[in-house]
Amino acid sequence: MPASLVVGTQWGDEGKAKVIDFLSKDTDIIVRYQGGANAGHTVVVHGKKYVFHLVPSGVIYDQTICVIGNGVVLDPMFFIEECDRLQKEGFPVYDKLLLSDACHLLFPYHSQIDSARETTLSQEHKIGTTKKGIGVCYADKMMRTGLRVGDLLDDSYQARLKHLVEEKNRELDKLYGMPPVSFNDVNENLKFFISKMRKNILNTAYYLDSELKKGKRVLLEGAQGTGLDVDFGTYPYVTSSNPTTGGALIGTGIPFHHLKHVIGITKAYTTRVGEGPFPTELSGEEGEFLRSKGGEYGATTGRPRRCGWFDAEMLRHSVRINGITSIALTKIDILSDYDKIPVAVGYKLNGKTLDCFPSQGLEKVEVIYEEFPGWKTDISGICDFQKLPEKCKNYISALEKLIGVKINLVSTGPDRKDTIHGDSF
Ligand code: GDP
Ligand code: IMO
Ligand code: MG
Repeated sequence: MPASLVVGTQWGDEGKAKVIDFLSKDTDIIVRYQGGANAGHTVVVHGKKYVFHLVPSGVIYDQTICVIGNGVVLDPMFFIEECDRLQKEGFPVYDKLLLSDACHLLFPYHSQIDSARETTLSQEHKIGTTKKGIGVCYADKMMRTGLRVGDLLDDSYQARLKHLVEEKNRELDKLYGMPPVSFNDVNENLKFFISKMRKNILNTAYYLDSELKKGKRVLLEGAQGTGLDVDFGTYPYVTSSNPTTGGALIGTGIPFHHLKHVIGITKAYTTRVGEGPFPTELSGEEGEFLRSKGGEYGATTGRPRRCGWFDAEMLRHSVRINGITSIALTKIDILSDYDKIPVAVGYKLNGKTLDCFPSQGLEKVEVIYEEFPGWKTDISGICDFQKLPEKCKNYISALEKLIGVKINLVSTGPDRKDTIHGDSF
């Protein structure tokens, strides 16, 4: 049985978790492969809302095993709080969550430095991070000054941690004038974390390969999206990992030949949180209208999301970089009020049409729009493609043509049941 991958095609918050939850019913193992508590993944089942940050979104099904892959940066206390909350909600998470021994740990000094940098940087240099310490933790991983979950299995990690805390305390003091982090506090938290998670830690790359060979169905859960990829996104206004397909292989250790389906998740319009270029962004009342209609406020930070029209040039970039085999289109119900719906079909720079989504200079492009007729009917909760208004079907097939990949899931509301999939297309 092959592995499938769910990847964000825009700047995050595309509705990945809604689709992952929908697909999880036919899945044995769900794996988070990158990012950390910067992610906010929302699932709604029978009107009840669940928000996940570190725990994979498929955890609420009985049959699923959930894995935190080696590519994730894990804040241990945040993770325990999230697990405890879910356990209280009735899900036996501690019995069904596996943790990679190669997953990097995120400490309070990472988030403090992230926060201090964001606060002290001038507006033109700010990234608008979630202040969860993600970039600082990944930088330590690359600098080889990180600590991994598996290190905690042997007490000798303490000497190394002491040295790392001392080093970071000098940085906190000298660069940001901030108070030190207590080694004892961090260490006590780690002891508590390991006492709860010891039996769940393993070499997940080996485990996943073995399970795939036995025929288990594996779903890889991406956080963020292609526009936030550190290599293929709008650098430097990106996150510090690779949410794209390459990152999914590295962040799990699953060999490429297991991966057969790459499902790109795409909102029927575009949103972005934080700083950085956004060619189809709507300003003023138009942007506010879409934001309030779509409930576009971050699930992690509560920040208002910037809103704009669908961008087919960005989607073609995502399809290419990720090798997307099918598209799930979300939040189409939010576009029900428009007479005409503009879509970005390409970009021009200095009067010349660009071949593709550019690696830099996105803030300078001129957008080429095409307008499609709106359907002006509430389509919330429709589960049969044939019941969608003709103009809505035309919008979907126009996007399909512009993207060049089949759309085979359409989401018409936040709830698991508000989904068009399969035979009715
Ligand atoms: P993720 O980070 O990609 O998993 O997406 P988020 O959970 O951060 O944001 C998506 C938001 O849209 C959540 O509040 C979802 O409940 C909601 N949502 C997902 N799909 C749909 C849809 O088709 N229609 C509507 N109205 N809301 C949706
Ligand atoms: P999900 O998984 C939307 C954005 C931040 C900021 C940039 C860098 O819910 O789609 P970071 O804290 O990662 O260093 O911030 O990335 N960002 C997200 N935007 N959805 C997310 O996750 C995001 N995770 C990070 O707003 O612009
Ligand atoms: Mg989100």
